[in-house]
This record gives sequence, structure tokens and C-alpha cells, in this order.
Amino acid sequence: MAKIILTGDRPTGRLHLGHYVGSLKRRVELQNSGEFDKIFIMIADAQALTDNADNPDKIRENIIEVALDYLSCGLDPSKSTLFIQSQIQELTELCFYYMNLVTVSRLQRNPTVKAEIQLRNFETSIPVGFFTYPISQAADITAFKATTVPVGEDQLPMLEQAREIVRRFNMTYGETLVEAEALLPKTEACCRLPGTDGKAKMSKSLGNCIYLSDTEAEVKTKVMSMFTDPNHLKVSDPGSLEGNAVFTYLDAFARDEHFAEFLPDYANLTELKEHYQRGGLGDVKVKKLLNHILQEELAPIRQRRALWQNDIPGVYEILRKGSEVARAEAAETLSQVKRAMRINYFEDGALIQSHVEKYSK
Ligand code: TRP
Repeated sequence: MAKIILTGDRPTGRLHLGHYVGSLKRRVELQNSGEFDKIFIMIADAQALTDNADNPDKIRENIIEVALDYLSCGLDPSKSTLFIQSQIQELTELCFYYMNLVTVSRLQRNPTVKAEIQLRNFETSIPVGFFTYPISQAADITAFKATTVPVGEDQLPMLEQAREIVRRFNMTYGETLVEAEALLPKTEACCRLPGTDGKAKMSKSLGNCIYLSDTEAEVKTKVMSMFTDPNHLKVSDPGSLEGNAVFTYLDAFARDEHFAEFLPDYANLTELKEHYQRGGLGDVKVKKLLNHILQEELAPIRQRRALWQNDIPGVYEILRKGSEVARAEAAETLSQVKRAMRINYFEDGALIQSHVEKYSK
């Protein structure tokens, strides 16, 4: 069976380090591994509209930002198909049929949807489109016959929902769709990169993000003011790693080579952590290390972004061509789905013939 990747992001803002370690970096590695037959990367504007219906301009402005972030991270349009969800109308058609295979109570149990409803204070005024977006996401995944979906942990309930729909569809209409597997980030820290303020998640509204498109100076300012251990007041005090955002970032980004390069007094992160916990190691030193490491990681991304920013029409052209390729793929799956559901009346000669016979007696 072909190995196919599909994944994507909602275009509600520029992408940040959380997106990068949680998914983007891995996508680029997977792309360059040559192990996959096809790779689809989707800008999920239709999904973003499910909770931004009154603000389409926000989505419209951010599609290019996400595309620039993709390209600057190293997603390569000659290897990966980059496309915009709303341009693939077959996805909404698939979603409509899948809706018949999911119950309201099943959607209500989806932990990600539950959490998002709370976060947005929807309470009893939940838009139906938002409520059903897990079904739309199942359409995204199955339309491309994806086998592998690289995502963050928060998306696991979506994958589970998609797999249920696939099983239900195949059982009801015959083997047609493919069950996809989630591919999670390699480490715990990558799964849950906190905001610079130590809060659970990077989020634009909390103003605690380091963006891939931040300048060198912006990154440095943000790192130097990061949340650490509030009880670590004097350098000599023992410090705690628990909930200490700087160390979580180091868990996600630091490699032994970085110590040789930037802080040769320590062989690796374990030694640095030991010293911090013992006392005698100041936050500033640790933050400076993190700043060096992040700058090294982000510099090539920033350079590529600057190049692509000079060719905005070229970026839109990549998305247009990608959307055409993606559409052809989704159309093929939709036609198989309609055949399986026996709603392909006009291409079904046997159906027409049987009705001829029914009325010729
Ligand atoms: N829900 C994802 C997010 O919020 C975006 C998304 C839409 C997606 N469709 C998808 C991710 C299909 C993986 C597969 O970031």
C-alpha cells in the first residue's frame, strides 16, 4: 500500500515554535526521508472558519503567513503538495456523507472539541460547523487515502474519530477508505511546548509565543524574559526544573553538540540540570544558552522566509497548483465513495437496465 502523509494547520496566525517542534520539523524530516509516496500539507482555512465565521479577513490574511512559514521551514513544493482546504470542494461532499455515520453523543465526547468549546466560551451557542469539524477532518484525511498523519497530541481524538468513520464506512459500504495512523512528536517536551510565560500552551491571545518569523532581537528579548523557577532568586539557590519553561525548551531543542559549541563547561543537558538543581547556576546563563540554540535553529528559517517574501505571487502560484493536484486526488476518492454508496446513478448501467425491465413487464 502507498505510504501517504496528510496534515495541516488552521491559518489563524503565524506559526510558532510550538508548531515547529510539535509537527513542522518532523514533516520536513519525513519529506526528506524519501519514505513516502505522497505528501499533502493543507492550510485548513475551512476548518478555521468554523469558529471564525464573522472574521474571514483574519483567515484570508494568514494563509500567506502559514505558507511562508511552511516554505521557510523547508517544505519543498517539488516533494510535498501544499494546498488550501476550501479549494477542494470534494472535501465538503465527503463530510456530508460521513455525517450520517457519526452520532451527536459521540461528537460530544470528543475531548478536544470539549476543551475548545470551553476555551471559546461557546457554552450553549456552539456553531454546528464547529461541532462537526472532527467529521470534516476525517474527510481531509480519508480524501487523500492518508496512512500517516503527523500531528500534536491534541489531535489524537480527531484521528480516532476518523478511524471510526473509516471502519463504519467500510463495514457499511464495502472496503473503500484507509485507516490512518497518527505520528506523534518524538519527545514529551515536543508534544507540549509551553508558552514563554510557562503557561500550558503557546497561544497568540496570551502573547507568549516565539514565532518562526520573529527577528533575532525579538527572539532574544523573549528568551531573556522567559518564566523559570519563581523561587530561584539568588544564583546560589537550588533551582527547580518542574514547570520551568526554559528547561522544557532545552529538552525540546538542546543537543550535546550545542554544549561543546556554546557552553563547554557542561557535556550535556543532564549536567546542566544537575548544577541548576544543586544551586549556583543563574537563570541568565541558561537563558543565554537557549537563545544561542534557538537562534541557530531559526536563522536558516528566517533567511528562507526573506527570500520567499520577495516572491509572494510565486507562493500563491504554489498553493494554486498544489490545490489542483489535491483536488484531483480527492475527486478520485469521492467517486469511489459514491460508487461504494451506490449513489453513482448515471454511470450505473445495471441500475438503469433493471428499471427498464421493471417497467417493460
Ligand atoms: N485540526 C488541525 C489543527 O487545528 C488542522 C487540521 C485540519 C488537520 N484538518 C486536518 C490536521 C487533517 C491533520 C489532518 O491544527
